[in-house]
Amino acid sequence: MRMQLATWPEVEDYLKESTGIILPIGSTEQHGPNGFIGTDALTSEMISFEVGDRVGAMVAPTINVGMAQHHLGFPGSMTLLPSTLIAVVRDMINSLARHGFERFYFINGHGGNVNTVNAAFSEVYAESSLRTAASNRPALRCVMRNWYMGGKVGEISREEFGEDEGSHATPSEVALTYFGFPEDGARVSQAPIDPPRAPKGVIYDADDYRRNFPDGRIGSNPGRATAEIGERIFKAAVEDLVDDYRDFVDKA
Ligand code: NI
Repeated sequence: MRMQLATWPEVEDYLKESTGIILPIGSTEQHGPNGFIGTDALTSEMISFEVGDRVGAMVAPTINVGMAQHHLGFPGSMTLLPSTLIAVVRDMINSLARHGFERFYFINGHGGNVNTVNAAFSEVYAESSLRTAASNRPALRCVMRNWYMGGKVGEISREEFGEDEGSHATPSEVALTYFGFPEDGARVSQAPIDPPRAPKGVIYDADDYRRNFPDGRIGSNPGRATAEIGERIFKAAVEDLVDDYRDFVDKA
């Protein structure tokens, strides 16, 4: 159930049955010539809603803006400073913990969030470990799963795209959005992709990024993305996460 579409009595009733919650987190950043700015947030949200339906879990509002400073050379990209994102994640967890949520399962769509979100988890744990949280607060547990790292997703990506998968604006994530948003996908998929496979390399700041990766992609050929492959990746991502969520919430 999407918490945005629930009433407070429904949330209160849910908490009598489960203390688990799914939190989609993405980013708002360029995804090359034929990928949506919202790719990372849209993909994590689509997958989170479906996993939530399958396991009967509450799904929190999506964190749509992440840590994406290196993409700021491209219009439309937005970032939170790492310190801001730590505060956002920590404050969301603490707000939900006040009501009785204890197991926080983040479904992430953006590699640039990983270090910062893990740092936020450490901040939350430190409140308990240093006894700065209320002493009657139950122990909280937080995990983050990157949907694009799932085993079943990886099988499809390797089989369909091989070396063309690359590391940013990948055909897998672009395909997933074409499946989720077919009308807009049909529009942006017309954009020329040149060269077919983008260069690889190291990322520093935004100016350096734009200089070395002029159309925004890194190592990928998202010209191979199709809605049909996107549907398979969507189903695989959900399969990768359903049992893992149940294990996380049920484990003592
Ligand atoms: Ni992405």
